[in-house]
Amino acid sequence: MSSVSGSGANPLRDPADRRLPRIAGPSGLVIFGVTGDLSRKKLMPAVYDLANRGLLPPGFSLVGFARREWANEDFAQEVHDAVKAHARTPFREEVWQQLIQGMRFVQGTFDDDEAFERLRSTIEELDKAQGTGGNFAFYLSVPPRSFPVVIQQLKKHGLADQSGGSWRRAVIEKPFGHDLKSAEELNKVVHEVFEPDQVFRIDHYLGKETVQNILALRFANTMFEPIWNRSFVDHVQITMAEDIGIGGRAGYYDGIGAARDVIQNHLLQLLALTAMEEPASFDAQALAAEKTKVLGAVRLPKDLGRSTVRGQYAAGWQGGEKVIGYLEEDGIDPKSKTDTFAAIKVGIDNRRWAGVPFYLRTGKRLGRRVTEIAVVFQRAPHSPFDHTATEELGQNAIVIRVQPDEGITVRFGSKVPGTSMEIRDVSMDFAYGESFTESSPEAYERLILDVLLGDANLFPRTEEVELSWKILDPIEEYWDKHGRPAQYESGTWGPAEADEMLARDGRSWRRP
Ligand code: BG6
Repeated sequence: MSSVSGSGANPLRDPADRRLPRIAGPSGLVIFGVTGDLSRKKLMPAVYDLANRGLLPPGFSLVGFARREWANEDFAQEVHDAVKAHARTPFREEVWQQLIQGMRFVQGTFDDDEAFERLRSTIEELDKAQGTGGNFAFYLSVPPRSFPVVIQQLKKHGLADQSGGSWRRAVIEKPFGHDLKSAEELNKVVHEVFEPDQVFRIDHYLGKETVQNILALRFANTMFEPIWNRSFVDHVQITMAEDIGIGGRAGYYDGIGAARDVIQNHLLQLLALTAMEEPASFDAQALAAEKTKVLGAVRLPKDLGRSTVRGQYAAGWQGGEKVIGYLEEDGIDPKSKTDTFAAIKVGIDNRRWAGVPFYLRTGKRLGRRVTEIAVVFQRAPHSPFDHTATEELGQNAIVIRVQPDEGITVRFGSKVPGTSMEIRDVSMDFAYGESFTESSPEAYERLILDVLLGDANLFPRTEEVELSWKILDPIEEYWDKHGRPAQYESGTWGPAEADEMLARDGRSWRRP
């Protein structure tokens, strides 16, 4: 395509121009599990924020499905309260008034045929009243044990049918299974009803701006990619640290643990984006093909006892407050062996990464909330400086700061001003807040919009989910058979065993 030079004024912009706002066509969203935390804190606010940004069609409809005895008005009030409490953008009455026109509530349980019939007629009514054109996405924000029944009910009541040019899509929240076998079974159930391009599996990390920026950093520039390999990189550290405990999520978390909760999905997706080869294009298939290839090349070390660590938070101090340990949390089995911290070391069997360890760690009740990917480089092969001059020089690093302080840091050595040649680490920072005026949308805004647009780039495919379980399963099996998680004091950076694991390799964790 020829570029426009000179004044740059081009009245005929290419309709495929990716800078144009992408606005969803006539459609609606049905949320199962609408009374849950995720729906209140993330999904409802994201729908409002999209409407507020003008990215939803005028007749957009939102249908809640749950057991609660609510009328449409009660549901609308719930959405209203959730939006007021959690939306990113300011509340505007005119946006709200328009949105409320398309809100409906269907009362029922997942095994209730009549409720699904009511859902079907609600959708037909909305097609007429709101012009939704039969295009509906079904968001399963429900426990995994309920996935099969909801999927089957959608089929049985003709809700998955895409007749007359309309579309139907299924959006599935994590956790997608609890091991490879259960994930395969779930995939089977889903694919008996929906075609692969109708299924959108949520990994909300992929909706984060900073995560998408990994691809921009690597593949839109020339200066990083030549050094992004085993010839220059010493190791990679991916950290997702949280300061919160498990809060009110005992029922979900106990027995699942940190590795299944976030390594299987968020951290392995970050690894895939960091390590994959350049896709031929930025389309869903090309991206998935490269992510699948690299996940398939991930190799676990033989000795899982020395290359994995799990921990469980004990009481401690956080943000100036005394906090209780995991085993004292409400609803937790006092003998629970669930990991709230997990660290693993993996390798990647390909020419680019052979011999470069990838260290992944995550935990709750750690020192602070931070997610980052640090690509740490080898030391210079020769130094012309006296070793005392470089005593305080660390290894060069490129750190992708996923959150909360979104940006990228490049760390390198620089001469300390003065008469002697002393070299110390300095950093060069890119911060989203300084370089861009607009704030980053929430991950769920981006992902819900993509579902409505049918854009599958940011959704993991079946193979990716299954490969990720294949990586994790042997670790979980090993942990099951060997001992208990090590205790770590809340507010620290996890158990000493995690530090020892890196120390054995002559390395140390970053203290972000
Ligand atoms: C979820 C996990 O997927 O991600 C939670 O289930 C975790 O345990 C959350 O707290 C963290 O998300 P974020 O976007 O706040 O980093």
